[in-house]
Amino acid sequence: MTRRMHLNLFIQSRGHHEASWRHPAASPLPLTDIRYYQDVAQRAEAGLFDSIFLADQLALDGDVERAGRSWLEPITVLAALATGTRKVGLIATASTTYSEPFNLARQFASIDHMSGGRAGWNIVTSWLAAAARNYGGDRQVSHADRYARGEEFVAVVKALWDSWADDAVLDDREHGRYARADRIRPINHEGEHYKVAGPLNMPRSPQGRPVFVQAGSSDTGRRFAARHAEAVFTAQMEKATAQAFYTDLKALAAAEGRDVGQVLILPGLSPLIAGTEAEAQRQARELNDLTDPEVGRKRLSGRFGGHDFSHLPLDKPLSPEDFPDPRTVEAARSRTEVIVGLVKREKPTLRQLLAYLAGARGHYTTAGTPEQIADLMESWFEDGAADGFNVMPPVLPAMLDVFVAEVIPLLQKRGLFRTEYEGETLRDHYGLDRPAGAWN
Ligand SMILES: Cc1cc2nc3c(=O)[nH]c(=O)nc-3n(C[C@H](O)[C@H](O)[C@H](O)COP(=O)(O)O)c2cc1C
Repeated sequence: MTRRMHLNLFIQSRGHHEASWRHPAASPLPLTDIRYYQDVAQRAEAGLFDSIFLADQLALDGDVERAGRSWLEPITVLAALATGTRKVGLIATASTTYSEPFNLARQFASIDHMSGGRAGWNIVTSWLAAAARNYGGDRQVSHADRYARGEEFVAVVKALWDSWADDAVLDDREHGRYARADRIRPINHEGEHYKVAGPLNMPRSPQGRPVFVQAGSSDTGRRFAARHAEAVFTAQMEKATAQAFYTDLKALAAAEGRDVGQVLILPGLSPLIAGTEAEAQRQARELNDLTDPEVGRKRLSGRFGGHDFSHLPLDKPLSPEDFPDPRTVEAARSRTEVIVGLVKREKPTLRQLLAYLAGARGHYTTAGTPEQIADLMESWFEDGAADGFNVMPPVLPAMLDVFVAEVIPLLQKRGLFRTEYEGETLRDHYGLDRPAGAWN
């Protein structure tokens, strides 16, 4: 079978550019209005995207005075999207550090039932230091402990999802038998962090297990992804680093005994598209003119676990010594590596760095014509950098519409992207096997 590109739409705020929320082309709806999310998801479905994705963090950022975000709790939003869409996959973030496996297994299995098999879970360990303070802790759980707990959490969730055999439900009204008790069993998990008896109080969901997505890129994060993830989101600033990441992760997955075709790698891509390159560049400048460097400075501080950057002048070239060593960062470690790497290579001023990060927070941003964007996507896809993309339009929905109208037809013409949905579930769209489960 020909290899096809997979596309996920990352829905955040009114777009991924930091200033999107106030851009004239952004949606007029409030960021708490479910119609906004339904509208964008329906546009993605009309464009035949594999899936949409909603991120989440468990604390309010300090920049709320000047920054608009997605405010609704994402699993709740997925429930609304399950009934407001028919085909597109539905992925949301949920934390292994600040939730219980039994709750989470029920929630995602419910979404999978409600959507006819379209649910995916982005497994995060929650890097934001402020989140700890909302869950009874004064100090953040360390990077290593977060991943250790995540490992056990995922094992429990898998066992719960497999605790019912696919044929456990009879729903036989005539003979008065609802289920086969011998096809439902407890999990009796007792580990270092969790003690869960099971079984789940719900039949196995259409996909068997909702799709596992993961987005950690540190050394530990990659090993975690290699063991569990079926789709991997990643932020890469260059094709060369994306290729290195792709090669490394596929090798780690193979070393875990996995079929590498069952581990999709989807780097972020934030494209600004216009009829000419000059017009695309003009639109990029227009967006950047709406940013506030002090918002960017606060966000940068959050990435580095609350490090104080307030003394750094905006217009002096930066050096790596202006940043904490990424190896000591307990927050989003891999993203700090991306940022310090950029500073080493290009020595930007703080203003230039913040303008770059305002685009899509360290994901690949580009401005160009539809042909240029399609060429770029094709070259990453063909040259071992990506199995598809996590598309992050700078402004929603306007810049998604341009992508759907102008870039997708080019990808289709080149045989790189589907021309209709060929299956029903997210596993069908991603070409992932349905897990057999623990029964025979
Ligand atoms: C596309 C993408 C989406 C992410 N979404 C979330 C999210 O919703 N919530 C969160 O806490 N972290 C999110 N992250 C961060 C990762 O889960 C991870 O914590 C971060 O990349 C640092 O990983 P590391 O500690 O392994 O380096 C996301 C990362 C990427 C690349």
